[in-house]
Amino acid sequence: MTTQTRTIRTVAGIINSVQTLEGEGMLVRRPFPKSTFSDFDPFLLLDELGPIDVEPGRAKGAPDHPHRGFETVSYILEGRLEHKDSQGHAGKLNSGDVQWMTAGSGVVHSEMPEREFANLGGRLHGLQWLNLPRHDKMIKPRYQEIPAQQISTAQNFDGSVSVKVIAGEALGASAVIKTGTPIMYLHFTLQRSAMSAATRNGRAIREAVAIAVQPVPKEYNAFIYVLDGEGLFGAGEERAGDGQMVIFAQDGEEVVIKNSADAESPLYVLLIAGVPLNEPVVRYGPFVINTEAEIVQAIDDYRNERMGSIDF
Ligand code: CO
Repeated sequence: MTTQTRTIRTVAGIINSVQTLEGEGMLVRRPFPKSTFSDFDPFLLLDELGPIDVEPGRAKGAPDHPHRGFETVSYILEGRLEHKDSQGHAGKLNSGDVQWMTAGSGVVHSEMPEREFANLGGRLHGLQWLNLPRHDKMIKPRYQEIPAQQISTAQNFDGSVSVKVIAGEALGASAVIKTGTPIMYLHFTLQRSAMSAATRNGRAIREAVAIAVQPVPKEYNAFIYVLDGEGLFGAGEERAGDGQMVIFAQDGEEVVIKNSADAESPLYVLLIAGVPLNEPVVRYGPFVINTEAEIVQAIDDYRNERMGSIDF
């Protein structure tokens, strides 16, 4: 009998986010793309919207704009957004909901704060990233909306690690969303468990830490985005916190996340991974295709309303 041991991936780099304004002036934190780091194949962008406390009547959104050649994934952590597109889809996204939009051959959509939320104000916190389905760039646009209650969740034996499985599998739970290319999108929470924080023989066990061990196939590119808190990552236990992106080397089959022993608060991270496409990426604003000529075509198609318009 042989036992196979998986190797823990090391950290290849830690990237800081830049702050930028999107749409009508929504404040986002963005680890990529930026001038020094354009994409992380097959991922094109990660934006963290807020968290920001919006005053009544002051919420900003992204009115009608086109996309072609990729998918957008919106995961709302707090607040409410409203979506409309030229395919006739309309939806309201609440806290914990996921929207998976395949722009494919082209779609015009709007992403705005939901009206009542905008009037009352409140906290808005959400994420969006885009990926690039291989030869599916010109497929028919598709729209999937998954309410929070349908997102699979799991936790470890003592509750110190819990996960929301948006895509892929973790801790025995599988996602309901089916993706074109293999993608992993996991939202982990690590905190000292009630059990490990208890005292043993009258002595508090201070060294207790939460540890998440997630299998990630070697051929996947994998990164973590830290939403809140501070953690230790990879074989070398590198430290990263709030708003930082941790890039893993493709040198193992396991990603390890730890909440540090001195952590005062829980650690919230997204683990995102996918098989690289190794194809040329040409972007121009909202279009991401493989050649310059296809960009020219996309602009022409949009100007001539071949991507449709929102008229409801
Ligand atoms: Co958009």
